[in-house]
Amino acid sequence: MDKYIIDGGRRLFGSVKVQSAKNAVLPLFAASVLTDKQVTICETPEIADVFCMAQILRELGADVKFERGNVIIDSSDAHSHIISSALTKELRSSVFMLGSLLSRFHRAVIAYPGGCDIGLRPIDLHLNALKRLGVSISERDGYIYCACEKMTGAELVLDFPSVGATENIMLAGVKAEGRTVIEGAAKEPEIVDLQKFLSGMGAKIVGAGTDVITIEGVSSLGGITYTPVKDRIEAGTFLIACALCGGEVEVEGVTADNLGMLLHKLRENGCKIHTKNDKIRLSSYGRLKCNRRIETMPFPGFPTDLQAQITALNSVCEGGALIVENLFETRFKYVPELQRMGADIEVRGRNAFVRGVSGLHGAAVTAGDLRGGAALVLAALGAEGISEVSDLSHIDRGYSDLEGKLRSLGAEIKRVRI
Ligand code: EPZ
Repeated sequence: MDKYIIDGGRRLFGSVKVQSAKNAVLPLFAASVLTDKQVTICETPEIADVFCMAQILRELGADVKFERGNVIIDSSDAHSHIISSALTKELRSSVFMLGSLLSRFHRAVIAYPGGCDIGLRPIDLHLNALKRLGVSISERDGYIYCACEKMTGAELVLDFPSVGATENIMLAGVKAEGRTVIEGAAKEPEIVDLQKFLSGMGAKIVGAGTDVITIEGVSSLGGITYTPVKDRIEAGTFLIACALCGGEVEVEGVTADNLGMLLHKLRENGCKIHTKNDKIRLSSYGRLKCNRRIETMPFPGFPTDLQAQITALNSVCEGGALIVENLFETRFKYVPELQRMGADIEVRGRNAFVRGVSGLHGAAVTAGDLRGGAALVLAALGAEGISEVSDLSHIDRGYSDLEGKLRSLGAEIKRVRI
């Protein structure tokens, strides 16, 4: 097991290139099963979730090679439609493999992806949609069994703009017979990226980025070489790090409209932000002001994946802030660790009441999930003194070389084996 040792209190200066988006790359891996032609995904981030998804494809019989930052996937020999419980537990988002497997094999068996540290994360929207496409589904001994003669397009309405459910339906619909319409679709940039990828394979799909996605099923799909959209959550994490520590940082690879609400909130804190094409430059000097209120919402609202990071920022701003987490039931589990560093935060259900303190002090803290762990790193960077952040396996799921990128900005951070 590794930990970070961070000597905090330094301002950050410099620029950082953002990795391809984890939450774009994972559905693209799933989509590669839709064709027996070669698929190349360029500039793939070297993160644990990607390696886990590669393992899932290999277990299905696909050949997956990592070559100079690109991933080459050949699923022509894929023969299995079963995803083991170990892999489903490790990577909950493997649930959107259902759409691909049903499209390819007309069968899919997946262990029920249990809850995790940020919430229950049910999959009812996924399963109800697949049933409307003609899939019969039964659940037994913790496994979900799906089968269909063929999938037939349908008009679907999502009660909630679930990212994963929207992606699952897209993956199931592109080769279903006839038209599939998704109303109430998720509008995240990663959905738009999946549409671009599928269209490049020959799918007929329009509307991603809006509430309504329309798909005309086709009989087969071809291969593709594709570079995914960059990671807006990684970019936001670095911008918040600079806001918290002070200094001037530029992130490269993400456009302002993919981070709109975050930039609005950071300006509200008192940060100066300049954007030009896919470069966002933030400068932060002196004590910032709390945001007063932040509510996480589906895109284009404030992203839940930056909630922990902006709460860490508000914990050292002037005044008070109410942070409301609307997407996941228990996404404040990192707060007790921030309190060990001197943060004054009270959590009541989906609400966190933050009272800004003049500064945090170093402490030994433990990451409990991906984005909560990132928030602890940010807090340690801004704290006076030495901090240790352990259980980095959570952070490794979504950030490639986080310590290297932070060191390039002037942070005193090193990774040690314990
Ligand atoms: C995706 O998860 C992301 N993961 C998450 O990022 C992100 O937090 C989330 O979207 C919201 O933006 C990937 O893309 C791999 P949802 P997903 O379905 O698809 C409820 C990270 O840190 N829901 O939009 O699982 C659910 O309980 C991760 O990178 C149902 O009720 O999110 C939750 O309250 C964490 N029934 C809400 O919708 C369902 O069938 C949002 O879930 C599905 C979801």
